[in-house]
Amino acid sequence: MTKRILITRQFPIVGAELLGSQGYELTQWAEDRPMTYDELLEAAKDKHAIYCTLTDKIDKNLIDACTDLEVISQFAVGFDNIDISAATKRGIPVGYTPDVLSGATADIAFLLLLATSRKLSFLQNTISKGEWQYFRPNLYLGQELNNKTLGVFGLGRIGIEMAKRCKGAYNMDIIYHNRNRNPKAEKELGAQYVDFNTLLNKSDVVSVHCALTEDTKEIFNKTAFNKMKSDAIFINTARGMVHNETDLIEALQNKCIWGAGLDVTNPEPMLPDNPLLTMENVTVMPHVGSGTVETRGKMAEMTANNIIEFYNTGKMPHCVNIEVF
Ligand code: DGY
Repeated sequence: MTKRILITRQFPIVGAELLGSQGYELTQWAEDRPMTYDELLEAAKDKHAIYCTLTDKIDKNLIDACTDLEVISQFAVGFDNIDISAATKRGIPVGYTPDVLSGATADIAFLLLLATSRKLSFLQNTISKGEWQYFRPNLYLGQELNNKTLGVFGLGRIGIEMAKRCKGAYNMDIIYHNRNRNPKAEKELGAQYVDFNTLLNKSDVVSVHCALTEDTKEIFNKTAFNKMKSDAIFINTARGMVHNETDLIEALQNKCIWGAGLDVTNPEPMLPDNPLLTMENVTVMPHVGSGTVETRGKMAEMTANNIIEFYNTGKMPHCVNIEVF
């Protein structure tokens, strides 16, 4: 029987082309905006496969309603929008796109660090407002990064890439906190495992690279920010819900920490009147970590191949819940 596949967004075309070449029947959401939950439910209910991304809520209710559903393939490395346990109970494999986006996402983390340490967004805004009048020796001074300590929260593939950039460019010491130790990174980067409190106390830069789970949800809150150095920079390119944004704003306003660079916000999208957008030591980007032509193309290919391989071989190369096999 011809497999019916729902593609929930306008992804790089290579993914749909690969799926089309297999003779599947494709239904693709044509609008720029994500589908509402009800639109998704309606479009998915008679499909065998869903090619989706982080803006699609694939919860138990939706999985239960899709009685023909055989496979879910996510265009992202994070999959907190999908109820993995509900999919697993139904024996539905969930694909994702690890590795290919690690370099691009770490580039954004590193870019946010540099931009924040030198007040890039704020200073560009002063020019737009006509405030660049003359050279000012004591104004707008940033921070240097040489020999400082980078604390990585979640030293996986992306965290390692960020650590390599910080070590290579600025000889930064690397400390990290994870659920499990990472002996390979300890060996290759000289990274030192520390408990969460030590990570907060010792880091000049805290960079978040963990998955969003019940354990990491808003773990960067008032209590955590209070334990950080007053000249520390907080970087988050993972998921906005890992930090409490009200607490972050307060920590910056009270000079409890020095600066923040965010590619992800809580909530998303960030509203234009958010005080973070006018702060001197803050840089915000609209969740574009993996956003290069090369990386997004590879992600589309991988998302499609996870479905194709599943149907052709019964296995999926990049699967979140391998226990279904
Ligand atoms: C991911 O892959 O999880 C990013 O947030 C989007 O590329």
